[in-house]
Amino acid sequence: MQVLQNISLQPYNTFGISANAKYFCEVSNIEELKEAFSLKEHPDKFVISGGSNLLLTKDVDALVIHINLKGISIIEEDNNHVVIKVMAGENWHEMILWTLKNNYGGLENMSLIPGKTGTAPIQNIGAYGVELKDHFVSCEGLNTTTLEMQSFDKEACEFGYRDSYFKNKGKGKYVITSVNLKLTKTNHNLNTSYGSIEEELLKNNIKNPSIKDISNAVIAIRQSKLPDPKKIGNSGSFFKNPIISKEEFLIFNSTHPEAPFYKISNTLFKIPAGWLIEQSGFKGKRFGDAGVHKKQALVLVNYGKATGQEILNVAHTIISEVKNKFGIAISPEVNIIR
Ligand code: EPU
Repeated sequence: MQVLQNISLQPYNTFGISANAKYFCEVSNIEELKEAFSLKEHPDKFVISGGSNLLLTKDVDALVIHINLKGISIIEEDNNHVVIKVMAGENWHEMILWTLKNNYGGLENMSLIPGKTGTAPIQNIGAYGVELKDHFVSCEGLNTTTLEMQSFDKEACEFGYRDSYFKNKGKGKYVITSVNLKLTKTNHNLNTSYGSIEEELLKNNIKNPSIKDISNAVIAIRQSKLPDPKKIGNSGSFFKNPIISKEEFLIFNSTHPEAPFYKISNTLFKIPAGWLIEQSGFKGKRFGDAGVHKKQALVLVNYGKATGQEILNVAHTIISEVKNKFGIAISPEVNIIR
């Protein structure tokens, strides 16, 4: 394992932000990962994986460790189910394509989410009615202080909406090295409850969809409204959908009866941040090279040379406008490095 100096992180973050790592190394197995974490001459470490949920606002004055652990294997199997072990550096979408090729069901609704598999549990990624936690069995991680491997079952991960133990009490303490997922081999549990999936299937005249059909529908929907990070730098949803109390919701709903919402429980309601941002006039707005995507207001984009700080400034402007207009606080879901 080689430690390089002054490496551009532009290819390692999907926002395409130009920032440098003072030191940089790539790890391809657990031993190398442990070695990187034991380098005493580099006390500050910064782990980078798919870089798809990351906004860099300055150079990183640390040893950046790029996770390149690869491999997918079957660790348990019966007639109906399979448990696969996916190493952290496997691209999430390519891994889903592999499951579909083998007719393993469960992940199809989460097709085309950018990033690598190891970061999926950190924010319990999800899309179109399915979340990682629905198929999660366990994950393994390196404790970066003791350099011991540790296993986390579903309960230990404390999953919530775009949230987990790794974003809270476990923050910065572990590097996830692999994820075990339980998938179906037969009687796939299809989830087409999300309106736009049904519309897309209907459009293509598909009445009895296969898991591949659902994946294709999700891919088509995402491609129609989310920018491809290879063409326009972005990090998917920049903001989380805010969750508000019933009291706040009743006031909001009486003044904005047209607003979409999801009832989470008898006391909690989720409001789509994309709607709040669009209604605040930001959809498609551009501030230099930083902007708000024209088809999905939740997504901030880098049209070319925006700096992380410029993207962050746009985010702050949006947060305060939404607060002024609706009295609702929205917050970023991306990891902002300041
Ligand atoms: N909406 C607007 N304007 C917009 C965007 C959305 O009015 O610019 C409205 C839509 O009309 C709809 C509602 O907001 O009524 C919800 O929109 P949508 O179904 O597109 O989903 P979302 O809440 O905007 C979430 C996830 C996405 C995920 C989709 C589909 C979050 C923060 N985002 O978006 O996740 O793909 O649902 O399940 O929960 C990601 O995390 O990177 C991501 C793209």
